[in-house]
Amino acid sequence: MGEIIAVRTGAEGGGGKKDRETGLLIRVQGLTGDSHAGSAHRPVSLPAAESAGQRRAQGAKAKPDDLAGSLLTRGIDRLSLSPGTRLKAGAEAILRVTPPHRRCAAGEQAGERVTTQQEIWAEVLQGGPLRAGDPLEVLPHYRFGIIIVSDKGAAGEREDRSGPLLGELLFPRGDIARRTMVPDEHSALTAELRRMVAEGLNAVFTSGGTGLSPRDITPEATLEVVERLVPGIPEAMRRETFSATPRAMLSRAAAGISGQTLIINLPGSPKAVRECFAVLEAVLDHALETLSGRGGECGAEK
Ligand code: MTE
Repeated sequence: MGEIIAVRTGAEGGGGKKDRETGLLIRVQGLTGDSHAGSAHRPVSLPAAESAGQRRAQGAKAKPDDLAGSLLTRGIDRLSLSPGTRLKAGAEAILRVTPPHRRCAAGEQAGERVTTQQEIWAEVLQGGPLRAGDPLEVLPHYRFGIIIVSDKGAAGEREDRSGPLLGELLFPRGDIARRTMVPDEHSALTAELRRMVAEGLNAVFTSGGTGLSPRDITPEATLEVVERLVPGIPEAMRRETFSATPRAMLSRAAAGISGQTLIINLPGSPKAVRECFAVLEAVLDHALETLSGRGGECGAEK
């Protein structure tokens, strides 16, 4: 876990940048009041305080205060930050690292400034307030698939609202690598699930087709594709959302693992997706970490 040690806004060069107590990141725009705000693809710069230390060790005079940039950071392993990596800044904001660039126009005008390989740039995916001392966390980066299972949706007779909602719910954790809609047909769903498993997606979420109607085949198709069951997930979703609606009992949703991919059935309505995802969210990171071999040392926890 890293830290934001200063929030800076204003024009770069000539002492125009000032440390502020607090700042506000706005989606797409950047840091309110900062000269970089609004610049396409790289509105927020994140220099590392450590790089000033490194430069001093090499005989240069730079202090952390000399570093230009919007958010001065400490404690982040820069080498692990490839473009696309998501960072959680403070309690709400989410940034995404953009591809490296040589210099920005403001830096050019300011003449010689402390430019270092340790500086990274990011765009704002989700806004939020910030203050010096806030945590800066590197978020894991997963690839997800979403399958809407619906005869009406696939025939274009019903607008899909659950797919976009799932996309929103998942985006802090990675990319939606594939999103598709299939009719309530066993072979169509198994084919799509197998395609996503073959692509090595970390998790696939289906929505719809889990009920009691004769056309509802989502759990059966899922059970055909998975090798290992994870029954606790749908059990918890039914149990924990029962107080919202006793009809939670009527979802026959299943969950399991095929290869490296966790497949989770959700009911079809956006309301049900939101309620069930809230239950799942408590364990999703740990499940994905364990499955992808990134950690998940459960035995060590008391
Ligand atoms: N679970 C929650 N949490 N909230 C809901 O609104 N709807 C139920 C149930 N599970 C619901 C829910 C209803 S009405 C049905 S019919 C079943 O999910 C199956 O829905 P599906 O066929 O769209 O998958």
